[in-house]
Amino acid sequence: MKSYRGYGVWLLLCVLLPFVGRAASAAELQVTTPTGAVSVYQTDELLSHAAAREIRVTDDAAYGQDMTYRAVPVASLIGDADAIDGETGLEVIALDGFVANIPLPLVLLDGDETAQAWIAIEPEDAPWPNLPGKEVSAGPFSLVWVDAAVSHIRSEQWPYQVAKIGYAAFPAARWPQLALGDDAAEDAKRGQAVFIDQCFACHRMNGAGITELGPDLNLPMNPVDYFKPEALVMLIRDPASVRHWPDMQMHGFTTDQLSDAEIRDVIAYLQAMAGRKAE
Ligand code: HEC
Repeated sequence: MKSYRGYGVWLLLCVLLPFVGRAASAAELQVTTPTGAVSVYQTDELLSHAAAREIRVTDDAAYGQDMTYRAVPVASLIGDADAIDGETGLEVIALDGFVANIPLPLVLLDGDETAQAWIAIEPEDAPWPNLPGKEVSAGPFSLVWVDAAVSHIRSEQWPYQVAKIGYAAFPAARWPQLALGDDAAEDAKRGQAVFIDQCFACHRMNGAGITELGPDLNLPMNPVDYFKPEALVMLIRDPASVRHWPDMQMHGFTTDQLSDAEIRDVIAYLQAMAGRKAE
């Protein structure tokens, strides 16, 4: 483990290098602990970490199949999370700008009754397969879950190609402009929660968020302002059914990943936000 200062350039080089050749190269994972201390772990350090194990992941969300990895428990890397109170989550940032906000209790609960979060490590000499339909693997690091179903882990709570892990106040507490009015309907409130789990990793909302992958879905215009309602439902379920091009990055959602009722709730949230545009 090294201190972060002065390693920015190396971090950038090391996270990009795995994509240059077929063999995975050494990469670095940046972890910020509750005290604000930043640690940078190398692939080899993580592979030989005292808590590293072989794990079997059922129905890995990135690969769409069962996978075996060498991995370390997230809890063994993130410092004394018990020191954190309030509505805090883990902010997990991927190389492509995807940003998962995972509630801390989900990560910290341990035992048979709950899912367990692990950081899977792609070995240099045994690269993982490419992701379905992509030219890259899920490495160098991927956040995966054992017993995901027990805690109803959602499809966007499996960030892959992870570059950084840190703590952040949970989105609704961190960005006031995400809030609904006091008079908000129940479906819009449910939709806000679904939005934060399933959409906010790729879409900013009303100026809130740090993701760099997709457009803000309220500013300058909200999709409810220019999509017919039925087209918006189709776009969320299966974007390619509305328009299709090679570089499109939004994948569709199966009904397991997002039910019809949840899509209606998300749209109710979008509708509510359309009337609450930030300055
Ligand atoms: C993996 C990242 C990702 C996730 C998750 C995601 N989107 Fe997207 N979305 C994008 C990107 C990127 C675009 C821009 C078009 C493209 O590249 O596919 C987009 C486009 C859209 C558009 C069209 C906007 C326009 O005006 O063209 C809508 C509406 C939308 N997303 C809604 C949602 C909703 C609602 C959710 C959650 C249920 C969601 N997206 C989840 C990445 C994502």
